[in-house]
Amino acid sequence: MVLNAIIIILAYLLGSIPSGLIIGKVFYGKDIREHGSGNLGGTNTFRTLGVKAGLVVSIADVLKGTLAATLPLLLNADLHMLLVGVFAVIGHMYPIFAGFRGGKAVATSGGVLLAYIPVLFLFMLIIFFISLYITKYVSLSSILTGIAAFIYALFTQDLPLIVVVAVLATFVIYRHRANIARIRNKTEPKIKWL
Ligand code: G3P
Repeated sequence: MVLNAIIIILAYLLGSIPSGLIIGKVFYGKDIREHGSGNLGGTNTFRTLGVKAGLVVSIADVLKGTLAATLPLLLNADLHMLLVGVFAVIGHMYPIFAGFRGGKAVATSGGVLLAYIPVLFLFMLIIFFISLYITKYVSLSSILTGIAAFIYALFTQDLPLIVVVAVLATFVIYRHRANIARIRNKTEPKIKWL
């Protein structure tokens, strides 16, 4: 019981590590939340600090989800990996180390699913880049990837997976409210490099 509580707190703290803020402040002297979309995530890091920083932050945000979801295995606890992963995603969205102003749940959710079902992560990557190629919107591609992941999960008949992917996709859509409004009024920036 105590171990389970510790794991859940650890997962939240891991998710709370604000990689975009750390990389931005330490190496570029910038708080990326004061630039671009204001989001503390990989996309806004790409936009504000460039490809190298964007890649590092995206990968770090994925890996904190993966590591958090793996904690029950590492610490030999009887706790579902996906449940633990949800707390890492909550930490990523509302980080205790960054004034509770975090990211939009995309990369860290991907990392959680990478730990539990790598083939779904691969499927999500493919859907994301196809959607990005067609629409040029990162935000819309993130949302579509969340929905596609949910449809994929339905076919697995794995109830915890179905429920958790539904929760994560809901987080992703909810956190993209401002992007959805911008897409509707045609002010959401499109990427230019694909
Ligand atoms: O992962 C976040 C992405 O979908 C949107 O980011 O900075 O364009 O709001 P941003």
